Amino acid sequence: MGEISPSHRPQWNTHIGFLLAAIGSAIGLGNIWRFPYLCYKNGGGAFLIPYFLALLIIGIPFMILEIGIGHKMRGAAPTSFSKVNSKWEWLGWWQIIFVMFGIVLYYSVVISWCVNYFIFSFNLNWGPDPNNFFFTKFLALTKHPFEMGSIRAPLLFSLGVVWFLNWLIVFKGVEKGLERANKIFMPLLFVLILILVGWSLKLPGALSGLGVYLKPDFEKLRQVGVWIDAFSQIFFTLSLGFGIMIAYASYLPKKTQIVKDSVTISIVNCSFSLIAGVGVFCVLGYMAHKLSLPMDKVVSKSIGLAFVAFPKVISMLPVLAKVFGILFFSCLVIAGLSSSVSILEAFASGIIDKFGYPRKVVVSILSLLGFLGSLAFITQAGLFWIDIVDHFLTQYGLIIGGVLECVLIGWIYKASKLRMHILSCSKLSPLWDYLIKIVIPASLGIILINGLVKEVSSPYGEYPWLAIILIGGGWLIFTLFWTLIVTFRPSRYSVRQ
Ligand code: TRP
Repeated sequence: MGEISPSHRPQWNTHIGFLLAAIGSAIGLGNIWRFPYLCYKNGGGAFLIPYFLALLIIGIPFMILEIGIGHKMRGAAPTSFSKVNSKWEWLGWWQIIFVMFGIVLYYSVVISWCVNYFIFSFNLNWGPDPNNFFFTKFLALTKHPFEMGSIRAPLLFSLGVVWFLNWLIVFKGVEKGLERANKIFMPLLFVLILILVGWSLKLPGALSGLGVYLKPDFEKLRQVGVWIDAFSQIFFTLSLGFGIMIAYASYLPKKTQIVKDSVTISIVNCSFSLIAGVGVFCVLGYMAHKLSLPMDKVVSKSIGLAFVAFPKVISMLPVLAKVFGILFFSCLVIAGLSSSVSILEAFASGIIDKFGYPRKVVVSILSLLGFLGSLAFITQAGLFWIDIVDHFLTQYGLIIGGVLECVLIGWIYKASKLRMHILSCSKLSPLWDYLIKIVIPASLGIILINGLVKEVSSPYGEYPWLAIILIGGGWLIFTLFWTLIVTFRPSRYSVRQ
């Protein structure tokens, strides 16, 4: 009764359903607001060299590893890792715990801002000064991470909507929820982004914006920071080290072309980033043209781009400004949701694998905990918290998890053994073993050490040290604590034996 044998495991109904869900996880807010900025900052077109190199030597090989191990072990990250070596179950838990109770808590909050801005677009509610509107009226940001003020009511509502949607999609299961949602989300997202890019290409000044985005500055490639940005962006954008691809691959049928799928997911994701970048820079080019400012005065990244620069441009558009806003914020909401549901699934499947609880109960409790956890980020100091937690989890959590995953699969399990499994359906060169065993952990190690050196030389973002230690370090300890608790709880199956 309730035994999770491989034959009872849910499966994707169609192969394209799996691909779209994995692509949905990979394409997220990062593709729209982070990639274009990184590209601009790091030498424009020249940045594409380290970026595509990182895709080739880290992104695709690591994607093959995650899809391969999930497919072979037919389990979420903790189950898969414990089947490799029972002492390593904790690593799988830690990855999904810090993504679920770290990254996704604030990621959902950012999606909820997009929901608010989607609604604001109908009346261009941000008015003539979007900067002031965002920080003072919308977030009512305080001056200090510990001056938390109160919970922002408008955010509470949209956050509820986001967690409700997360819950609904995952609650309905792999085939009826995730697969169906992504089959609607992904084509819609592609159509919307193409409309937006086509539209922005026609704006006056667009082409000069595009020139600035892609003009190669090969000198920049001499800087280590540029390479580090490329390698860490590839890791984050492909959702690697999140335990997500492992869980998604565990629902694949036996005969699957793992290499081909990994290449497809990675390339579609990175092409999406490039195309989104075209749209973003055409729009910024238009703004520079309208305000007669040089491009470097109008370019901004992430939150500033989506919630300040874009609203400003939207209000300036001569025709259908509101429609542009509605389409843009819909893109962000869709891209965000298809990523956030993927970790909810990865976590739920870990719990279901180990304890055998019913999916609907697990997903409901997790979504409720997620919603409550997100409340920490919708106070008036929420933006500071998001910034600090994001920095620690993406700079350290993901990277440390990735290195350990390479050690576990490359050395303890043996990369060659996993390659033999993959070879049953796909071709894969033995060179892959070296990438997994040496090149990837070494590159991630360099990123990590470089980050640590910067960290001790000056506190991140000029926040007080105390805030960094309490919020960033506190989050790390909190996730490790829960990792130990879940790891050491007996599995329902081991109790029975
Ligand atoms: N790849 C996503 C991006 O580029 C990030 C992401 C994927 C993510 N899955 C996630 C973030 C789950 C939070 C939770 O934006």
